[in-house]
Amino acid sequence: MKRSTRRELIGTAAVGAAGLAAPPAFGRRVLSSRAGVGPGNFVDGVASGDPTAHALTFWSRLSTQRPRSGARLIVARDEGMRHVVATRVVPTGTAINGTLKKRVGRLKPYTEYFYVWESGNDVSDIGRTRTLPDPLSTQPLNIGFSSCQSYAQGYYSPHVHAAGEDLDLYVFLGDYIYAEGNPQRPGEPRADVWNAHDLRSYRAKYKLYRSDLGLRSLHQVHPTVHIWDDHEVENDYTDNHPAPSPLQRTSAYRVALEWLPRWVNRRDRFKIYKRIPIGRTADLFLLDERQYRTVDENNKPFRLLGDQQLAWLINGLQSSQATWKIVANQVLIAPIDYGTGPLVDTWGGYEATRAQVLGALERAGIDNVVFITGDAHVFMVNRLISNEESLRSNPNQPATAIEYMGGSVTSAGPQRTEAQVQARNPFNVEFNSYFHGYAHMALDPANLVTEYRASDITQQYGGTFAFERFTQPAGANEVSREQLRG
Ligand SMILES: [Fe+2]
Repeated sequence: MKRSTRRELIGTAAVGAAGLAAPPAFGRRVLSSRAGVGPGNFVDGVASGDPTAHALTFWSRLSTQRPRSGARLIVARDEGMRHVVATRVVPTGTAINGTLKKRVGRLKPYTEYFYVWESGNDVSDIGRTRTLPDPLSTQPLNIGFSSCQSYAQGYYSPHVHAAGEDLDLYVFLGDYIYAEGNPQRPGEPRADVWNAHDLRSYRAKYKLYRSDLGLRSLHQVHPTVHIWDDHEVENDYTDNHPAPSPLQRTSAYRVALEWLPRWVNRRDRFKIYKRIPIGRTADLFLLDERQYRTVDENNKPFRLLGDQQLAWLINGLQSSQATWKIVANQVLIAPIDYGTGPLVDTWGGYEATRAQVLGALERAGIDNVVFITGDAHVFMVNRLISNEESLRSNPNQPATAIEYMGGSVTSAGPQRTEAQVQARNPFNVEFNSYFHGYAHMALDPANLVTEYRASDITQQYGGTFAFERFTQPAGANEVSREQLRG
């Protein structure tokens, strides 16, 4: 797509209009009589996700009271929706909250597509998306990532900015919603008052979060992937501490699958861990650090990933042919200590799993493994090694991998200085708990360059600026730091 066109899409969505309206000639072709297409309105935006080189999942939601209905998806090569490459009639109904989702294959690698949904009486905003590069491609990539977007604690200004970037993929690293209510406190712009615990309340939560036009714009213009962390279900849950009921867990997982543009594994509906090849430049490993974590008989952390996922991850990292191995990771893998010991809910509390993964990288000599992490509500960069204690006595040892934590979109974090954190944690390269925002990662065969970006979340469409840049040359497992502002 021409640059100006994407800006038009973003601009229209961001100022609160109904998105880029379908051209009138197109609107008149609405097929109210087509079998399987019912009445209803598209009031929750559009989205695309789970890209491969040849397929994408398209999403929208039909607001209708009918138990059974449907809408028509149209995918085209141009924003005028003239060069149509696929049409699908997609069923929906109240049983799945009116959500519409369709996987479309046989698309061309690294190609831009536009899509629209039509019902009997409405046409959705036009979405824009792109497939991933061919498996043999060394195409440079641009990826955005963030986590922790408490609706009550700020506006989604980081998403408005990210929607204006030329990104190949956007990765949500968890806490896309907060199941817990957050009554409006002084200094917080919005209220989010109820605790989600069943289908109805989780669905209402996603609808509320998706009502923010920044988040909606991001989904409208970029393909996304998502991994869930704890707050998509309940704070800090494991298999038995605390114990959300099976009904609550199932409801939370099911609604996340309904509302996010993700492909669903038919044999194991709630399995979200998987590898996404992005040409030869990168392999992206999506993890699930909630569903399979276990504690021992004394309620002490035991296994973070479960045996099957752990073996899959180590195998995948060892066999990957891509230059960069990017691990989309819910919770801190560096054993950060704020003064009370490593944080129990993170990899720091699951020392055996941590040593198994990093030890496997060290024994096999695997370079260019990068963890991108959510959860902690701060910006951080950490050098990783299986025995982090040895870094305390000899900080100059070579690192095994690097961890980048791209702040929180809005959720409040601990207020500490970098000097305080580094005094206890010599493996920490950067720490900033004052800003909110997101991270931009540019990858090519020679370098991985990560920029941290801070946004004004106190007002809708607040400004965004880059404040740090980190360059990691391929093969080095080290970063150089450049302060840009702030
Ligand atoms: Fe969070």
